[in-house]
Amino acid sequence: MRILITGASGQIGSNLAVALLQQGHAVEATDIRRNTWTDKLNEHIVDLVALGRQSQPISPRQRPDVLVHLAAHAKVFELVQSPHKAAENVLMLFPILEYARREGVPLVLASSREVYGDIHQWITAEPTADFVVSRSPYSASKIAAEAFLYAYHQCYNLPCLAFRFSNVYGRYDCDLSRMERVIPLFIDRIARELPIEVYGRDKILDFTYVDDCISGVVAGIAQLAAGKISNETINLAYGRGYALEDVVNIIGAGLGKTPQVTWLPARAGEVTRYVADISKATRLLGYAPRTCLSAGLLQSIAWQREAGFLK
Ligand SMILES: NC(=O)c1ccc[n+]([C@@H]2O[C@H](COP(=O)([O-])OP(=O)(O)OC[C@H]3O[C@@H](n4cnc5c(N)ncnc54)[C@H](O)[C@@H]3O)[C@@H](O)[C@H]2O)c1
Repeated sequence: MRILITGASGQIGSNLAVALLQQGHAVEATDIRRNTWTDKLNEHIVDLVALGRQSQPISPRQRPDVLVHLAAHAKVFELVQSPHKAAENVLMLFPILEYARREGVPLVLASSREVYGDIHQWITAEPTADFVVSRSPYSASKIAAEAFLYAYHQCYNLPCLAFRFSNVYGRYDCDLSRMERVIPLFIDRIARELPIEVYGRDKILDFTYVDDCISGVVAGIAQLAAGKISNETINLAYGRGYALEDVVNIIGAGLGKTPQVTWLPARAGEVTRYVADISKATRLLGYAPRTCLSAGLLQSIAWQREAGFLK
């Protein structure tokens, strides 16, 4: 298959592109910046916000069989500080939607567990997202993106799939000067015996090892391309909640260090409790995540070390 990925220089995009190439697919990788993790990609530098402002659809080198739209400003707190970037997230979807509509290319959208807000403390059934629980500008941008996707399905019969990801961690996520993410940041600082600040001692979150996430996305691409599913919204996560304290302790044990932690309250806009119901992913895609948090964190430490990010 020929697959076009936007945001292909990011964490999920890089892992997805490499996995699809390994499976023999042709991948066109678009992003606003070059990939710093792999030189194996057929890259195409595109600023989707600029295209969105000009009302221009993307122009791939070849017509893809499936589009996977991952490009976004993806850091929740950064968008609390700079909410115009949430508006840019919506703008960067338009060149993709319009190309998909014109060419009839099935579209996979990266959404987030942020669309649930913070009120579903223990999710036992697949709930629908509701804009009244919008918790942050980032959350609002994902709710808007999903709403446009469903609207394009209704009005133009666009085959589509939205994945709601949750705290994806692992390989290709430790470019901390570009983007601070808690797990690689904690690994980096605890390894160097530096103190860490942790926002929200009581937070319970569902951390997804990147290979599990990618296995779900790859299955979704195949099912969507084959016309077996469409217009579905699917949670992709591990399906179990862990406290940030668990994360810190497992990393400390894995590195053989004692973490020096200052606990602070959760910051504005942050979701504090979320555990995914992954039964729909299992039912529709045969999704079966394999990497529990402790195994995933040890793999992350090993990867960060092998890639030369840890002394
Ligand atoms: N990683 C997670 O835990 C997680 C959780 C929920 C949802 N998501 C969503 O999944 C997607 C991928 O996340 P990620 O963690 O790989 O993020 P990332 O920041 O690593 O990747 C996003 C990519 O989008 C690119 N981008 C930003 N602005 C652009 C523009 N104007 N034109 C073209 N490209 C642009 C960035 O350069 C970056 O490489 C995002 O949509 C994110 O919101 C991720």
